[in-house]
Amino acid sequence: MMTEDKYSSQIQQPQAKFFTTITYGCQMNENDSERLAGQLKSIGYEHSDNLEKADIILINTCCVRESAEKKIYGKIGELKRLKAVNPNLIIGITGCMAQKDREKLFKKASHIDLVMGTHNIHELVKLVREVEASKGKVLAVWDQAERMAPNVPTVRRGRISAWVPIMYGCNNFCTYCIVPYVRGRERSRPVEDIVDEIRQLGKEGFKEITLLGQNVNSYGKDHDGSDFADLLSAVDAIDSIERIRYMTSHPRDMNDKVIAAVKDSRKICRHFHLPIQSGSDEILRRMNRGYTTGYYRELVDKIRQAIPGASLTTDLIVGFPGETDELFAETLNFMKEIEYDAAYTFLYSQRSGTPAATMPDQLPLAVKKARLQQLMQAQNEISLKINKRLEQTVVEVLVEGPSKTDDHKLMGRTGANKIVLWEKQGPEQVGQLARVKVETAQTWLLKGRLVLL
Ligand code: SAH
Ligand code: SF4
Ligand code: F3S
Repeated sequence: MMTEDKYSSQIQQPQAKFFTTITYGCQMNENDSERLAGQLKSIGYEHSDNLEKADIILINTCCVRESAEKKIYGKIGELKRLKAVNPNLIIGITGCMAQKDREKLFKKASHIDLVMGTHNIHELVKLVREVEASKGKVLAVWDQAERMAPNVPTVRRGRISAWVPIMYGCNNFCTYCIVPYVRGRERSRPVEDIVDEIRQLGKEGFKEITLLGQNVNSYGKDHDGSDFADLLSAVDAIDSIERIRYMTSHPRDMNDKVIAAVKDSRKICRHFHLPIQSGSDEILRRMNRGYTTGYYRELVDKIRQAIPGASLTTDLIVGFPGETDELFAETLNFMKEIEYDAAYTFLYSQRSGTPAATMPDQLPLAVKKARLQQLMQAQNEISLKINKRLEQTVVEVLVEGPSKTDDHKLMGRTGANKIVLWEKQGPEQVGQLARVKVETAQTWLLKGRLVLL
């Protein structure tokens, strides 16, 4: 009789196959990469970060600014070497740059096998099979999305926090922005789909959910059902989830109902990310943002009155065409007036095909850089001042794991999304809420000590 051992040694074990994903851009792209990974796993590929070992490498790209594109083209160039060593390696480019540049990518880099647009992500398995069968170039870029792409398996990178897309695309056409051209029109996922996915995540042990969309506040406008506040309340009712975040809000579409939903909930984080982009009404008008600084100021007042202590963050672009020294000073002053907890600041980048790209008075890079410097310096001072107020107070954090720089410390985030580090000492566990007394506040970081109950 044949023993099991003998039997297995006689069978030819298929060699494991590996894939790597390299992701640029926003959280939406991070989540798309998780869905790419899920599809590859479903056909037997294992994940590995080791490029030398990979049989498939997918670069999931961003084109929101030229700097991102340059970096990505550099990375694509580096992969040529690997293809020379392993001619069977499949190199695929997906995401926003693939949607925009399409077959041009094959011309720029002849070692690319697959170009797949943002609306084709769910087709990965079929497309990989096509590359494997033909050993030729495969291009799959639909101009428009299907009403709602089918669900595909997802392999999450984290174990505590998960991203959940609630809508795809954007209808806003801010004049500087390429996103609506590469992500298509707004499509909201049905509430039941979203709630089912989050319930499942809760069962798997996830504690924090970030609802994703380019403009989450217009959730549901493309069908007659629930709006964003209704969705927040539905997610709030899911037991096992401890924290709910969402991004990004468009100030124009933020409303009282959403503010009330946040106020009435224990789980929805008291953090508002409201990209202002510019503090000049003239520039805001030319950006097609659909609000004024006066409207925005009132919105912030309303939030701060309803939810004292709510944290506020923003995005800002410097050097939009026609931004004079005076108009830039308006932005700097507005930023100082609002006192954001943090601001993400960007140099304006000309995106071909967008209205702002052909506006007169494009500014030299040196002017943009000098303004960015001023803005960042002013913001750093404000962030530090706000964080200093937290010294000697106790904050609640969701424990994420060991600090990346110091094994003896744990890292977590407050509801306001501030990073906190403390000495590992007590019974606190990854994925649990803990209370930490802040001892030292820095611009980007709070350091403290665990408060034992
Ligand atoms: N939908 C989100 C995120 C869009 S992209 C929103 O509306 O806020 C993230 C940020 O990139 C934007 O908020 C904006 O500040 C910045 N951005 C977009 N296009 C840009 C461009 N052409 N140049 C510089 N920054 C840009
Ligand atoms: Fe771009 Fe404006 Fe849409 Fe945001 S809201 S993705 S900045 S067009
Ligand atoms: Fe970039 Fe596309 Fe996100 S352009 S910012 S990856 S939607």
